[in-house]
Amino acid sequence: MSIVIKRLRVESLDQPIGLDTEQPRFSWLLDSELQSQRQSAYRILVASNTDLLQQDIGEYWDSGEVVSDRSVQVIYQGNPLQAELRYYWKVKVWDETGAASEWSSIGQWTMGILDQNDWKGEWIGQSLDPEIEFPPSLYLRKEFVIDRPVKRATLYGTALGVYELHLNGSRVGDEYFAPGWTDYAVRTQYQTFDITASIQVGGNAIGAILGTGWYAGQVGMMGREIYGTSPALLLQLHIQFEDGSNHHIVTDETWTMNTGPIQYSDMLKGESYDARKETPDWDRTGFNESDWQKVYRFERYVGKLVSQIDPPIRITESINPVKMWMTKQGTYLFDMGQNMVGWVKLQVQGLTGTQITVSHAEMLQDEDTLYIENLRRADQKDIYILKGEGIETFEPHFTFHGFRYVEVEGLLDSELTLGSVTGRVVHSDTPSTGSLETSDDMVNRLISNIRWGQRGNYLSVPTDCPQRDERLGWTGDAQIFIRTASYNMDVSRFFAKFMEDMTDGQTPDGAFPDVAPDAGWFEFKQKVVKWFAPDNAGWGDAGVIIPWTLYLMYEDRTILETNYDAMKRWVEYLKANSTDRIRPDYANYGDWLSINADTPKDVLATAYFAYSTAIFVRIAKVLGYADDVIEYSALFEEIRTAFVRTYMDEKGIIQGDTQTVYVLALYFGLLSEEMKPLAAKRLEELIQQNGNHLSTGFLGVGYLLPVLTENGLEELAYSLLHQDTFPSWLYSVKQGATTIWERWDGWTEEAGFQNPGMNSFNHYSLGSVGEWMYRYMAGIDVDSEQPGFKHIVIHPRPGGKLTYVKANVESGYGLISSSWQLNDGLFSLQVSIPVNTTATIHMDGTSVRVPDEAVKMGMENGKHTYQIGSGNYEFISQIEKVMKVT
Ligand code: BGC
Repeated sequence: MSIVIKRLRVESLDQPIGLDTEQPRFSWLLDSELQSQRQSAYRILVASNTDLLQQDIGEYWDSGEVVSDRSVQVIYQGNPLQAELRYYWKVKVWDETGAASEWSSIGQWTMGILDQNDWKGEWIGQSLDPEIEFPPSLYLRKEFVIDRPVKRATLYGTALGVYELHLNGSRVGDEYFAPGWTDYAVRTQYQTFDITASIQVGGNAIGAILGTGWYAGQVGMMGREIYGTSPALLLQLHIQFEDGSNHHIVTDETWTMNTGPIQYSDMLKGESYDARKETPDWDRTGFNESDWQKVYRFERYVGKLVSQIDPPIRITESINPVKMWMTKQGTYLFDMGQNMVGWVKLQVQGLTGTQITVSHAEMLQDEDTLYIENLRRADQKDIYILKGEGIETFEPHFTFHGFRYVEVEGLLDSELTLGSVTGRVVHSDTPSTGSLETSDDMVNRLISNIRWGQRGNYLSVPTDCPQRDERLGWTGDAQIFIRTASYNMDVSRFFAKFMEDMTDGQTPDGAFPDVAPDAGWFEFKQKVVKWFAPDNAGWGDAGVIIPWTLYLMYEDRTILETNYDAMKRWVEYLKANSTDRIRPDYANYGDWLSINADTPKDVLATAYFAYSTAIFVRIAKVLGYADDVIEYSALFEEIRTAFVRTYMDEKGIIQGDTQTVYVLALYFGLLSEEMKPLAAKRLEELIQQNGNHLSTGFLGVGYLLPVLTENGLEELAYSLLHQDTFPSWLYSVKQGATTIWERWDGWTEEAGFQNPGMNSFNHYSLGSVGEWMYRYMAGIDVDSEQPGFKHIVIHPRPGGKLTYVKANVESGYGLISSSWQLNDGLFSLQVSIPVNTTATIHMDGTSVRVPDEAVKMGMENGKHTYQIGSGNYEFISQIEKVMKVT
């Protein structure tokens, strides 16, 4: 048998612990030395111990031999899974000849707490006065004795606030800002830690540091104490002894608490840390806690506790500054060389009581001054008071900053070096899956900027920006960038969690929110703007676009099922709030931050109404809801007809006459075959009249190059890509940008910094061109009929100034790659296609070399198409490309 089974995953994770999904999904990677390999059947065994599995017994589930080529997201269908139990599994597959593989190695996962009533502990902390603006973080501790050998010790923890766990003198886990951000009134995530190796027979000390976080600290422009005043901690340690007995240690009245060195730690303000107040060994046994107090016990939590779905927030990289200099005001300035999100580790030496301030900014006002006007009410400052004992190392606990430049002030008696500062890059640790490289350095920098924008802003929720007093889960930004994001990284779990935030925030009449978790945004905004509604075109639609994208990219059917009713309510809401299928413009951000090209808001809203409906129809089809398919297809037709009738004249001019309006009409399928060329022509004219510049805002930008490419304007797409005068992607690159800017005109040669109230230099939305680079430039695309890259479309578009492109995408089935080179009209393409998938290759020009295994399918849009199975292949053709780039 030629197929080998590699890497087993449960719920897309390697050996997860603490799952609370009743029917986890299994995936396995297949590998083979041979070409064109596919799975024809599989058998899965699930058991509660490895001995049974070794004997090929799965007492929880034996799927039997299932004739199927599914190897990702196979749903568990065995006996009900028990809370807190560890499960082992293995799989065997058959290839197309009927030959069986060896059994895979054994995988495992552990279930978490499944029933709310199984939480035994109490919520503990300190009852705070709401008037205290920035309270100190709290230290909580308890000692306990273990008198028998421990088989397994599992710690479940969560907080209303943010917490950091300690056990016997060490930090537990490597995550930050647990439990993450949710609408705490409805749902709070818990974390599971396997601490078996750190528990000792004899005395043990467990402790936690508790901060305000999103729960009680500042959130966005809405202020502080959005969810509550006093942070609270809930822990449950489950010890299973070797002798079969069990013991629980939970948070209760026996815990003690105190404040310590953290004077305050707030997401937006920063942290103040007085090292003189450190209490060494507070997390070890034998600590003198005579001045610690009894904890306050809070009332029972009314929301739901769920296991954390999304990847933990971690430090994923440490970077060193590239430059340091002394300013004329006597402070030190560091240039990290990269606009980043996280904080700095500072190593300093000085006299006791010396106060050091570390300020963060994305740009410089002048050589000696940080540009902080764009931070609005976010201070982004960390303060550190030295204890005066040799070299001291400082890293904040419950805050993060968006910055490239760091200013350190307050050191009087010692000097800093480049090595005094290290940048800590912090974000939701979504695994990297994609990479792109081209022959053009400027384009490569753009690719890097897109990636950094994603890294910095995916922090528990897809935030808009990491620096000013905003940092919210703006749903419009999320939807326009999700396809790019899902090429770059595995965001399946990150967005599955965000969809829960979206549905938690859905209004009773079906509107999806602009911001999720809502965090009081809606109420806040309503006070300012009376007509405000939470259903903005292109924002609320994220509730449909996100699940559909997860289905396309990860073959995630469950996300469609779970959110089906919510999506249907959204479409119904849009229907109820439209007149003759036309949506009014009363609550609408428009094509946000477009350049002198306002698209009428009702046109935009009606186009999105049609798009949400069209996607919903496709989802209904996938799930087999035939009645809905009929009903909502008809609705789509009605909206489409109303759109054309109301907004398009006989010459094909659509109301607003902006680039975006044509882009949306074409991308959303609103135009008949006869109208399409007219719209494409007009779009071309508008771009040309604008000197080959785009004018699109957040909503138009993502679809602009795909629409040009799909409508025969590939070279125009390339000229927009390569354009480096304002406004364009490469304009910011030319100005030295290392992340995607919020505005095309964030900084211009003529006008300097723009609109400081809204001028983030790390907003990912305009980076949604990444999707085009993967799908069209490199040409790696999904087939919606066989999603998740089960059938891969390889359709590279040689063009522009590029002489080569290399792209890799790690799909659920394995690595897909597409690399092309263009040399004197000779176009060569190397592809890798994973086992158990097939691909259709689209080749330009006259064939020079076609692999023997490739099955010729005919011509499509003037290109040769071939069908191939798994393996590595090379295609070569002769093409005549006219380089039109201006
Ligand atoms: C945010 C955006 C968001 C927008 C709504 C801004 O303040 O930063 O990214 O989508 O508001 O128009």
